[in-house]
Amino acid sequence: MFETLTQAPSDKILALMGEYAADQRSTKIDLGVGVYKDEKGVTPVMTSVRKAEERILSNEKTKTYLGIAGNKGFGAAVLDLIFEDGLDRSRVRIAQTPGGTGSLWVLMQLITRARPGASFYVSDPTWANHVPMAKQAGFDLKTYPYFDTETRGVKFDEMLATLNGLKAGDVVLLHGCCHNPTGANLTPAQWDQVADSLARTGALPFIDLAYLGFGDGIEADAYGTRKVIASVPEAVLAFSGSKNFGLYKERVGAAILVARNAAEADIANSQMLNVVRGAYSQPPDHGAEVIRTILTDAALRAEWETELTEMRNRMIYLREKLSAAIRERSNSTDFDFVSSHRGMFSLLGLTNEAVEKLKQENGVYMTGDSRINVAGLPEAKMGELADAILAVSR
Ligand code: LMR
Repeated sequence: MFETLTQAPSDKILALMGEYAADQRSTKIDLGVGVYKDEKGVTPVMTSVRKAEERILSNEKTKTYLGIAGNKGFGAAVLDLIFEDGLDRSRVRIAQTPGGTGSLWVLMQLITRARPGASFYVSDPTWANHVPMAKQAGFDLKTYPYFDTETRGVKFDEMLATLNGLKAGDVVLLHGCCHNPTGANLTPAQWDQVADSLARTGALPFIDLAYLGFGDGIEADAYGTRKVIASVPEAVLAFSGSKNFGLYKERVGAAILVARNAAEADIANSQMLNVVRGAYSQPPDHGAEVIRTILTDAALRAEWETELTEMRNRMIYLREKLSAAIRERSNSTDFDFVSSHRGMFSLLGLTNEAVEKLKQENGVYMTGDSRINVAGLPEAKMGELADAILAVSR
């Protein structure tokens, strides 16, 4: 049987985690996989999460099954977090999923049932895992222009021109905030134009919202998602609780569908739940119950928001530090874009050879496309890092 198989490509982001772990140099710097790190280089369990877990452990009465859609209280709390009261819930259905990737997969399968082989547009570039996932779902994968390698901003006119040329039945994957891998994001005015375009063409927005709160705050980061979904009859949304709740290994996310009316929402939901039942039956509870506990308790929610704000501010601070260190050393503003980007990542625009050299000679790890996880920037060694980046970029 297995002799018919050939080697599958390894996942570039996760493979880098292994390479970094195996590197024995004490000076190594991890700017690879997208996990938050504090100033000690630790990915902490958030205090609000710890408190919620203690409460869950002492109050939990049963381990019986949750049902295919998962933790219902979690679903309601996530919808309130993303939309507040701005969305008619009769058109919305939500299924708790194992992580944000689980929600992407469930929603891709759902769309495949409605439109097999649909044209599926992703930003150029996009998160490395979007591409194989969309191909595996059988979509006709296409890209829309996004990152401008000259300005390090968004090529908005070109992006919009492509979106304006789409038709009903096409699918457009949008990063709700904190674009991965580039760090370049749409302004509210640009989101308004994207929403108008989607409303006009009838293309289906597929929003990946994996970093809510990591950019400019929950409200600002939710703007695009709220605007698009308020403007169109149908949409899907993949939510992740990995980053903003620091629940990475607990795998908690949600697949959300918005239909034209309640009757169509019920039918689409029956298909979504059928996808889940045939794949993993039902999701695990722990991470979802943690998020439900936090979001439905005023004190825990306030504590979580404070912790989220601290993480966000630290990433913005580190962005400014790196830009300043490079500016001082090069007397140029070439890397100032790092401080205007938002979210967990910035694409530095280095060649693959330069990235490899940084790894081999300086022990600096980033993905081959020169994406850095800004939370991994070493405050105490920013000067050395700036020197190393400048040396390979000349
Ligand atoms: C990343 O982009 O580094 C994260 O989303 C982790 C992952 O699974 O790739």
